[in-house]
Amino acid sequence: MTIARVYQQRRLSHYPKIKGCHVVGLAGTDAKCRLVTQSLGFDACINYRENNLASALQTACPRGIDIYFDSVAGRIMEIVLEQINVGARIPLVGLISQYNASKLPPGPNLMPLLAKRALVQGFLVGDYAARKYAFLADMWGWLQSGQVSYQEQIVDGLENAPEAFLGLFSGQNTGKLLVRVSPDPTAAESLPKAMAA
Ligand SMILES: NC(=O)c1ccc[n+]([C@@H]2O[C@H](COP(=O)([O-])OP(=O)(O)OC[C@H]3O[C@@H](n4cnc5c(N)ncnc54)[C@H](OP(=O)(O)O)[C@@H]3O)[C@@H](O)[C@H]2O)c1
Repeated sequence: MTIARVYQQRRLSHYPKIKGCHVVGLAGTDAKCRLVTQSLGFDACINYRENNLASALQTACPRGIDIYFDSVAGRIMEIVLEQINVGARIPLVGLISQYNASKLPPGPNLMPLLAKRALVQGFLVGDYAARKYAFLADMWGWLQSGQVSYQEQIVDGLENAPEAFLGLFSGQNTGKLLVRVSPDPTAAESLPKAMAA
């Protein structure tokens, strides 16, 4: 199984790991890759800027790719599609490589989707709002047991929000990027207490 994007990986890697998958990440620097494997528990991580991404992916996923959690699209998706297995599933979560494009990018070669009878499905987190508390209960347990770890990067001050936001497109953040606009009034609350509210 391969999942794209290091920061969503921060949370997502653990679910497939808990379910017994072989999980491979993609990140934009070697340092981020080390974080992904050493701190977040991925089986492998590839710096997607390396020259032969296709071959690196093949080495990391010798049995092919069953699930590709895509928040990037573009060139990386095209390379991944060449290595998907029959019946692969691709939750399409984001297209960060294309958000700033000034003209419509060319579409990927869709032949692998046909040949492998793969499923691509748009994923919007809001569609799963009804399952939020079940998720929080699971997550609380996994955090407590150490099965899940996470990392945040907090930028102080609303005035710094635009610069912080732009940094998402060049990989400036290491960890989930948050902008703190005032002291957190719920900081003293535990997650179970917040869940019960
Ligand atoms: N569907 C939904 O419900 C939903 C909800 C929230 C977010 N999203 C999507 O999820 C994605 C991640 O959002 P996030 O807010 O959580 O931020 P994030 O995971 O922190 O993503 C930012 C990271 O994306 C990478 N990146 C930026 N430009 C890239 C490019 N051209 N090619 C490849 N990688 C690039 C950079 O990491 P590297 O240094 O590794 O390149 C950057 O640090 C976005 O596509 C967003 O739209 C979807």
